[in-house]
Amino acid sequence: MPDTTATWRERDAELIAPAYSRYSDLVVESADGAHLHTVDGRDILDFGCGIAVTSLGHRHPAVVAAVHEQVDRLWHTSVTTLHPKMIEAAAGLVAVTPEGLDQVFFSNSGAEAVEGAVKLTRRATGRTELIAFTGAFHGRTYGAMTLPASRAKYRTGVGPFLPHAPDQRCPIAEGEDLQRLFATTVPPETVAAIIVEPVLGEGGIVVPPATFLPSLRTLCDQHGILLIADEIQCGLARTGRMFAVEHTGTDPDVMTLAKALGNGLPVAAIVARHAVMRHWQRGEHGTTFGGNPVACAAVIAVIEVMTRERIAERAAALGRRTMERLQAWRNEVPGIGDIRGLGLMIGLEFMQGDRPDGAVVRRIRARALERGLLTLTCGTDDNVIRIMPPLTIPEAELDAGLDILESAVMEEAPQ
Ligand SMILES: Cc1ncc(COP(=O)(O)O)c(C=O)c1O
Repeated sequence: MPDTTATWRERDAELIAPAYSRYSDLVVESADGAHLHTVDGRDILDFGCGIAVTSLGHRHPAVVAAVHEQVDRLWHTSVTTLHPKMIEAAAGLVAVTPEGLDQVFFSNSGAEAVEGAVKLTRRATGRTELIAFTGAFHGRTYGAMTLPASRAKYRTGVGPFLPHAPDQRCPIAEGEDLQRLFATTVPPETVAAIIVEPVLGEGGIVVPPATFLPSLRTLCDQHGILLIADEIQCGLARTGRMFAVEHTGTDPDVMTLAKALGNGLPVAAIVARHAVMRHWQRGEHGTTFGGNPVACAAVIAVIEVMTRERIAERAAALGRRTMERLQAWRNEVPGIGDIRGLGLMIGLEFMQGDRPDGAVVRRIRARALERGLLTLTCGTDDNVIRIMPPLTIPEAELDAGLDILESAVMEEAPQ
């Protein structure tokens, strides 16, 4: 049977669980930089980065070289030995994460890191309750999935759920909404941790008010609650700083990382204060594959490149350039609701009156894809186009992608 695009799609439908939905039906066989190459010879600009993962571009040469070298040396020992790459990767992370975060636990996926962080904070405080925010997303595994609510379908039939605080969209002045939650639902002395995405990703690229994270920090300090910053999507230079918490100078007690950490190799991390990590006794948490030497070699290379090439500054500059372009469309397209984001983590929201307009977003994305640009969506109603190109994308390619998006918006959105 010839391996045509149609055949791959048929075989995919037959063999892959239908739960595994895709943003496009492109059949991709190779990639470099900001380009995806399909089996039928198309060259597609990638403004999604495999969902905020290939932030240095597909197959960044320094990461490829580090991985190649490690593949020829050592692949796996798990908990049977120590190995230098894990220690070096941890040192690299501790050097760039906010003040006080000085010990690392590596795992394989974001959700696994989130669940580990939940276990850790419960263990460290001896408390059970957790507070997460409506609209947040922390992963698909059972425990992680009970935390957030960016979409109802993620949570169907898996209760009971944990208490939820108000949406980050509500300005939380001095934490007053959480005070209400403490008074009505969860006494603060029972709360182990507050977990927060410093910038909402899946929930629609929502940047909270500047007072939000600092007021959470104050509240946590007042009540002995640990603050977990889930930087799985917004971390590692994406927002124009190495970590999104830096925009407000908030130091969390625990941080979860994944996605861009391996630039495409599966690796995640919990980074925490030693004073928190020390509550885990030997063997109380573990993993077979987490901290694999090949994945750790990628982590080391990613951090080196991000630091040496000032990738966060580049993300900030390209983000400003993108924002200026998008803002100019507003005058012509009344359906554009909000344009928001930080660095190269940008959401272009579409509304019909006061209702989210997912239909126009579907048409815009389809039109853009016909012309060679892959974009993602986010938000509960899928009415936000998520713009997340590689942070290394050349300006000319960024502009070319924005040209395609602009033509699709102008054609598909009512003017
Ligand atoms: C903020 C955040 N946390 C956790 C996760 C879960 O990560 P993973 O899919 O690697 O389990 C995601 C994935 O989108 C995320 O955006």
